[in-house]
Parts: sequence; structure tokens; C-alpha cells
Amino acid sequence: MRLLEEKIKTDGRVISENVLKVDSFLNHQVDPSLMNEIGKEFAEIFSNEEITKIVTIESSGIAPAVMAGLHMNVPVIFARKRKSLTLYEGLLSASVHSFTKNETNDISISKKYLNENDKILIIDDFLANGQAALGLVDLVEQANAKVVGIGIVIEKSFQPGAQKLIELGFRVESLARIESLSNGEVLFINEKVK
Ligand code: G4P
Ligand code: NA
Ligand code: NA
Repeated sequence: MRLLEEKIKTDGRVISENVLKVDSFLNHQVDPSLMNEIGKEFAEIFSNEEITKIVTIESSGIAPAVMAGLHMNVPVIFARKRKSLTLYEGLLSASVHSFTKNETNDISISKKYLNENDKILIIDDFLANGQAALGLVDLVEQANAKVVGIGIVIEKSFQPGAQKLIELGFRVESLARIESLSNGEVLFINEKVK
């Protein structure tokens, strides 16, 4: 997505070979107009799927997911991150390990918002190792609902998440695909090195 790539180039900051900071429009301050275009793009890409609900994870997945939900006219559910391991009645839970942060979180969704007739689009802001997406897939499948696609705002293609999800048979659609963050520069897939 051209507009998103341009925004990443102008406002993103490469923190290391592995981390891109996009606090000014996605992870802290949010650019509503860009989020609207992102939502429109997801709606177009997945228009041939009969999606009934979108599932994302707090906090940074919510803005793009809600905009996609607006354009697709479907509800948006965000999984909550819980500190406690205590299981509460009526909750579906999964464990998500972050290699980036070296911590494990339990995520959960109330059973009452998912059912076996649902066709789910999973949306998230970043795809790195794929653990968050896999946790969301786990929750959807616990409800006997079907994952029909995974929409990602920024995919770090040099990390293993995208390939892992594709190998599992999921349709993964990422609006920006980063091949490398080397030398302090963002290089998108298919972009020629100058
Ligand atoms: P994974 O789910 O693909 O395995 O990713 P990982 O555990 O590595 O990511 C942990 C958190 O770090 C996630 O946010 C993820 O979105 C974020 N993240 C991963 N790589 C980058 C990056 O290059 N830049 C930025 N800005 N974020 C990255 P989170 O902890 O769930 O936070 P939030 O959703 O509340 O923002
Ligand atoms: Na994030
Ligand atoms: Na996220």
C-alpha cells in the first residue's frame, strides 16, 4: 500500500536491525485518516470472503481493525491481555510468547462473542514472529469458528511469522512488507536498492 509505505518512510524510525518505531501514527499517536485508508484497503482485499467478524488484540491492533470493521460493516472483537493465569468462566484463553519482549502473556476473548458460524478476519498492526496471530487463531478455533484471513499492517518479512502462517495454510495479506531494516533504512519487498 503506497500511502502506508510513504508514511513509514517519512515518519517511521529504524531503532535497530529488527525494530521499526511508528509511534507517531500507529503505536501511540494514531493517524485516523491513514487508519481509514488502511481499513478501506483491508475491506477491498478481503471483499470476496464472507467475513462475519474481525478479531484483533489490544492495543495497537484496535485502530486498523475498527476501521476495517467500519468498511466491512462487521463487529470487531479485541482480545485482552491478562496478567493473571486464573481462568474465568466464559473466557477462551491462549498463551502468547513474545520473543521481542521475552515475556509470555495470556490473551482472552469472551465466548459469547464468537460462535461456530463465524468467519473471522484476524487483523494486527505488526507481524514479526507470528505468536500474537497464532494466539488469536487459537482463540477463534477454540470457538469452532473459521479463520478466513489474516490482515497485517506492517509485516517484517525477514522474521519468520508470515512464512509460518502461510505454511499453516492461512491467507496472509500485509499492507507493507519490510525486507530489511539494515543500515538504519527501511527497505520494502520489491523495492530496488538505490
Ligand atoms: P509476534 O506476535 O509477531 O510474535 O511479535 P512479537 O511478539 O515479537 O511482538 C511483541 C510486541 O511488539 C507486539 O506489540 C508487536 O506488535 C510489537 N512489535 C514487534 N515488532 C515491532 C516493530 O518492529 N516495531 C514496533 N513498533 N512494534 C513491534 P504489543 O506488545 O502487543 O503492543 P501493542 O499492541 O500494545 O502496541
Ligand atoms: Na504492537
Ligand atoms: Na499488536
